[in-house]
Amino acid sequence: MENRRAIPEINILSYVCVDSTNRILMDLAANGSPVGTVVCARRQYQGRGRLGRSFCSPEGGIYTSFLLPMPEYRSEPGFCLTAMASVAVKRTIIQVCRKKCGIKWVNDVIYNDRKVCGILAQAVGDKVVMGIGVNYTTPMSEFPEELQEIAVSLYEDAKGVPPMEDFVRMLANNLYELCYNPDENWLDEYKGSSTILGNKVQIIQAGEVTGTGTAVSIDDLCRLHVVDENGEETVLSTGEVSVRKSND
Ligand code: BTN
Repeated sequence: MENRRAIPEINILSYVCVDSTNRILMDLAANGSPVGTVVCARRQYQGRGRLGRSFCSPEGGIYTSFLLPMPEYRSEPGFCLTAMASVAVKRTIIQVCRKKCGIKWVNDVIYNDRKVCGILAQAVGDKVVMGIGVNYTTPMSEFPEELQEIAVSLYEDAKGVPPMEDFVRMLANNLYELCYNPDENWLDEYKGSSTILGNKVQIIQAGEVTGTGTAVSIDDLCRLHVVDENGEETVLSTGEVSVRKSND
């Protein structure tokens, strides 16, 4: 018989404008807030991104952080968990918006070849704050020039779109369900959604290109395997590394 684990009670705290929902939830967690606490905001003025970057967070986006238990199966906080979160986002976008997205390793959600969602996991004690930022109805004019070619919103304007609250609630359900009762499809779905498998990629560490090759596979630990022109394989398994498609 199936042994499903109960998901925690979900408690969503909504704000208009904050520095960073991750920062707020990390403080709440440090002060004893339980798993299931969710912080969301309509704007952030110090949104945190991966690799120490900032995350542009104007009105029109959905900025949410979820308090999750630290996974037992891997010591690096939230590595596979962020892949899982990207699947939860992809599923939510299909369910709520009826739009299909891909996933660029490790956890960028891609719509129409551009980034529509970024995910940042931060450890706090024995828990993980999973921060998810979705460009929902953000006007393109709100993005700085360097993001104009890279970012996209799910909708061009806010008329008649599904309420953000519905999106956050569905995302919370999908994420906690996946976290507590991972279905057998999620990893295949993750691998099958990859926008880079089979493509030439550059490996980037600390802002420098440290290698190039073909992205050949993603394994069951969500590691990306890249093979260079000499047949040498590199296995990428850290959130400190990113890849981008290369044209050469
Ligand atoms: C990235 O792509 O670099 C990750 C971006 C993560 C952004 C989200 S928005 C909600 C949460 N709060 C933050 O300060 N960051 C995450």
